[in-house]
Amino acid sequence: MLKIEGVYKTFNPGSANEVRALRGVSVTINPGDFVCVLGTNGSGKSTMLNAVAGAFPIDRGQITLHNTDLTKMPEHKRARYIGRVFQNPFSGTAPDMSIAENIALAARRGMKRGLSSALSVKKRAQFTEPVRQLNMDLEGRLDNPIGKLSGGQRQALTLLMATWIKPQLLLLDEHTAALDPKTAARVIELTKQIVEKDRLTTLMVTHSMQQAVNLGNRILMLHNGKIAYDLKESDKKHIRVNDLLALFDEIRRKDQMDESVAQMIKKQYI
Ligand SMILES: Nc1ncnc2c1ncn2[C@@H]1O[C@H](COP(=O)(O)OP(=O)(O)O)[C@@H](O)[C@H]1O
Ligand SMILES: [Mg+2]
Repeated sequence: MLKIEGVYKTFNPGSANEVRALRGVSVTINPGDFVCVLGTNGSGKSTMLNAVAGAFPIDRGQITLHNTDLTKMPEHKRARYIGRVFQNPFSGTAPDMSIAENIALAARRGMKRGLSSALSVKKRAQFTEPVRQLNMDLEGRLDNPIGKLSGGQRQALTLLMATWIKPQLLLLDEHTAALDPKTAARVIELTKQIVEKDRLTTLMVTHSMQQAVNLGNRILMLHNGKIAYDLKESDKKHIRVNDLLALFDEIRRKDQMDESVAQMIKKQYI
């Protein structure tokens, strides 16, 4: 279970570039939840995931994963529990290393150095089948450097690597946004397979409302650094793209109302 409690994060505080990216985010993600995270640009989706992964210290609040307090834990230690895939197909893998070497690195995540011996023949043989199941024509290319592969092939491999050792939490941040529609669909299909097979607790940021409707059991909608809607299993079952669009409209309308109230208050003081 992932518990995010009262998390605040302001970038560049006190400066002209101050951004209040998270303004009191509280949410509990249950084991096996597959959550799609929606929200307009700049609403705090990536910041929320980065806060969980430990990319920066948070200003206030607490983050716990299965009763382990992550709040002050450095990013590299959290990586033992958390698998991540980003939007950019070029992050998350070592481009000059081969597919097999990259997987070998993923396979020894969290192990002590001494235990992780060089790539044994036996281990390498274990890589072929999972890579074949990606259906990306990569099983015959285990010795090719990852840098030579297409974006879709890299995202598929990054996904495989992020989940090679079952993570307690999988964070996906628009991991198909940079791919062409056909490749994106393939990577989404893989995501579904992998998450469902291991019942991985997953937070997936997406800008695709269709993906949010099709995948997972829960939808979080962020707005202005807060959770505006949390649609749980029973609500989510019936939700369609149009309903999500309506929710976005409602958020926008509320914003405009807030704006006009602010104007009124301002007028009273002038
Ligand atoms: N490292 C950072 N430094 C300064 N500002 C940041 C940083 N990361 C995000 N922001 C700002 O915080 C706000 C939320 O960003 P982000 O979480 O990336 O939004 P989203 O992923 O929902 O599009 C934005 O205004 C963004 O510019
Ligand atoms: Mg983002």
